[in-house]
Amino acid sequence: MQKWVAALDAKDPNHAHQQLEALWVTWGMNAVDTDLLRKLIAHDDFRVRSAAVRVLRYNFDRFTDSLDLLKKAAADDHGRVRLESVIAATWYDKREALEVVTIAQGKGLDGWSKAATEAAAARLQGKAQKEEVENPMPTIPEHLTDAEKESFKAGHEVYFRDGHCATCHQKDGKGLDPAFPPLNDSIYVHGSSERLIKLTLHGVMGPFELHGKKYDGQVPMTPFGMLSDKEVADVLTFTRNSFDNKASAITPDEVAKVREATKDQTGFYQMEELLKEHPLEK
Ligand code: HEC
Repeated sequence: MQKWVAALDAKDPNHAHQQLEALWVTWGMNAVDTDLLRKLIAHDDFRVRSAAVRVLRYNFDRFTDSLDLLKKAAADDHGRVRLESVIAATWYDKREALEVVTIAQGKGLDGWSKAATEAAAARLQGKAQKEEVENPMPTIPEHLTDAEKESFKAGHEVYFRDGHCATCHQKDGKGLDPAFPPLNDSIYVHGSSERLIKLTLHGVMGPFELHGKKYDGQVPMTPFGMLSDKEVADVLTFTRNSFDNKASAITPDEVAKVREATKDQTGFYQMEELLKEHPLEK
């Protein structure tokens, strides 16, 4: 590998990348080239420096001055190098590594590094991260009956389950460009309950428009037919009364009826056919 590196053309625009490849190969052979790492961690290109810091993180034991190398990286002019140094510091597992974090903090934090740096500082000081209630229960709308309020609460839990609604439509229901549409004040949410149950049970894809924005419908919504009638009713009752929507609750009976009536539906609904069956309300 050293011979290969020595023969590289330093004028090749890919020279640094090739050197990095060599570094990664020696790391992969569990014989990281320490001289090469020292060279690359001081490279002109911040991408090369940050990649070298990443390799250092797995190879502290091969450098007697690993902490000094990290401190230098923490004072780097580029945020990505500083971020790599902070993350590497949490692997150091010694209180001295807190200095690395302090140096990086002194250079100022940006949106990319703030959370990681705070977490690193807390970890190196042996503090648990402060506990936050992850998804606090919103105010429950008064127009719901007591039973419906219970359903709303249960639906809140379903909405935030891993891989369920919040994953794509986000915690605030505002969606995520370009593929995941918002649920805020959406006619699909507070309009026809049958249309909503159908798309929830079977998933949906195909182009449509919402709040003046076109969705090309390339990304399908996963079907949630594996949820029980009660879970579907709960999550939809919650959604229909959250994110600036206000609508009637949905009962497990209604879900069961739609499930039965659509049991021959195989695969996703096309948005177009769904809207033919249930045109959008004015
Ligand atoms: C894997 C990502 C994903 C998950 C999880 C998901 N959706 Fe969707 N959802 C989508 C996509 C993508 C569309 C648009 C599909 C299309 O283009 O036709 C959509 C469309 C919708 C729509 C119609 C358009 C709108 O924005 O009002 C509603 C209502 C909806 N989803 C509700 C839900 C509910 C309720 C859940 C949880 C039970 C959920 N979705 C879970 C991705 C997802």
